[in-house]
Amino acid sequence: MKQLILALDVMDGEKAMEIAKKVAEHVDRIKVNYPLVLSAGVGIMKRLSEIKPVIADFKIADVPYTSSLIARIAFENSAESVIVHGFVGSDTLREVCRVAEEFGGKVYAVTELSSPGGEEFMSAVSLKIVEKAKEAGCHGLIAPSTRIERLREIRKAAGDMEILCPGIGAQKGSIEAVKYADGIIVGRGIYASGNPAEEARKLRRVLKI
Ligand code: XMP
Repeated sequence: MKQLILALDVMDGEKAMEIAKKVAEHVDRIKVNYPLVLSAGVGIMKRLSEIKPVIADFKIADVPYTSSLIARIAFENSAESVIVHGFVGSDTLREVCRVAEEFGGKVYAVTELSSPGGEEFMSAVSLKIVEKAKEAGCHGLIAPSTRIERLREIRKAAGDMEILCPGIGAQKGSIEAVKYADGIIVGRGIYASGNPAEEARKLRRVLKI
């Protein structure tokens, strides 16, 4: 079953809870990022996890020890998975996976960012990142819906690793991404609309997921 994942980048905890409750029946997981966690506090992850599993998108990108601390904080606060940058290399990837394993959690590695800047440096190494992420024991990858030809390549290299794709909606990613992805991540297209529940429901229909 392919998933629809809400990227909840609002900056008010109560607003986040209100949107999460409204869209709950139409989304499979909720992804939190710095805007919400730095505004509302790390405790917001536990509250949201009572509604849907939470992906902590901290795009971890540090030396192994510091990265392990960040991952630990995420899992101790009820995250079911974390996102780590792939460009950090094998040692950090392995260390984050080791912490995830302690909690029965999952790790997704960013291959190349969906934004145009992702092409400047990351596209050149993203297939190598796939390899390193697989070797390190990552459960899945984050890959762009905004560059379908790259996504197709990443899918080929990824084998049976899970792929989550951001970019549909505000970043004008292609809905064709659903062919190659296991999950579609949408933020502004849902939470910034007048009716988030209805938008999420419509998206599921359009994406046929
Ligand atoms: P929007 O509002 O653009 O939100 O639908 C997308 C969400 O996904 C994050 N994002 C990414 N995360 N790799 C990632 O790991 C990416 O290439 C990428 N592009 C967008 C973004 O931070 C937001 O939370």
